[in-house]
Amino acid sequence: MLEKVKLLIQEVADFSGDNLADIEAFRIKFLGSKGVLKSLFADFKNVAPDQKKEFGQTLNTLKKAAEEKVENLMASLASKADENPKYGDLTRPAEAIQLGARHPISLVKNKIAEVFSRIGFTISEGPEIEDDWHNFTALNLPEHHPARDMQDTFFVEQNPDMLLRTHTSSVQIRYMENNQPPIRTISPGRVFRNEDISARSHCIFHQVEGLYIDTDVSFADLKQTLIYFTKEMFGKSKIRLRPSYFPFTEPSAEVDIYWGLKTETDYRITKGTGWLEIMGCGMVDPNVLRNTHIDPEKYSGFAFGMGIERIAMLLYQIPDIRMLFENDMRFLEQFKSVI
Ligand code: PHE
Repeated sequence: MLEKVKLLIQEVADFSGDNLADIEAFRIKFLGSKGVLKSLFADFKNVAPDQKKEFGQTLNTLKKAAEEKVENLMASLASKADENPKYGDLTRPAEAIQLGARHPISLVKNKIAEVFSRIGFTISEGPEIEDDWHNFTALNLPEHHPARDMQDTFFVEQNPDMLLRTHTSSVQIRYMENNQPPIRTISPGRVFRNEDISARSHCIFHQVEGLYIDTDVSFADLKQTLIYFTKEMFGKSKIRLRPSYFPFTEPSAEVDIYWGLKTETDYRITKGTGWLEIMGCGMVDPNVLRNTHIDPEKYSGFAFGMGIERIAMLLYQIPDIRMLFENDMRFLEQFKSVI
């Protein structure tokens, strides 16, 4: 019996555990409620009276040794944990992090903003929910004007009318109301029209509109600005202006750029003509200047507006406008390398 306890003391002395599970198993084996010590103490009553003293002392030695062992091992485990770096093993090979990509709409918008900022244009923004004045009336589109039908409008409230802006020309009105010429600003933003969704059109899309007002601004300035823009944006500077109509500009024009007919795609996207329509423009109507308290006798200006989706589709050969709104990762991932 005494021998057995002495062997156990040796076992305790020999034990070394370097993890929590081993130490805990050791503790349960010796000190647990059904452990070795418990049963040895229970056996104490069977020990011959003359051996009781020695047996009791040895048993106490075992108990103390086991307790100290657990305590020491736990302490050294805790100090080891302190030594370990917080971030685990720093020599492990890193896991690849998924890179995000900018959305093609943002890419094109940023590029347009960058091209115009180089020639002194600022960026202005305005609300998506507009009143009738800023979206229509101030832009020379009084109530019952037939040209209001050109832009099928989503109304939010009636009397007074609140609507989702159909173009960012509304931002230009706000800008003119709050600033005197010289004015050079572009207004990028989301616009809304009640149109059927198809491969070529959507009820939500994005525009960048531009406005330049100063003394002696002429149509020639507009044309030069457009040539500069198309060259920087597309690397192509051959454009043509076709007479058109917008209530807020007079004269007005559509801008076509010569895309060329080098490839089959060129044929397809230009319908075999080589020309592509990219924006509307014109000289700001004197009525619009008057509506925003700018003297048309003193100042003149030009404005232009383009759809960002259309330009993104051209630049990246995107066949369906809906792809720009679906957030399909397989589509978006293709823009990873573009800044
Ligand atoms: N606001 C027009 C549109 O939404 C675009 C445009 C802007 C045309 C400025 C001429 C001048 O289509």
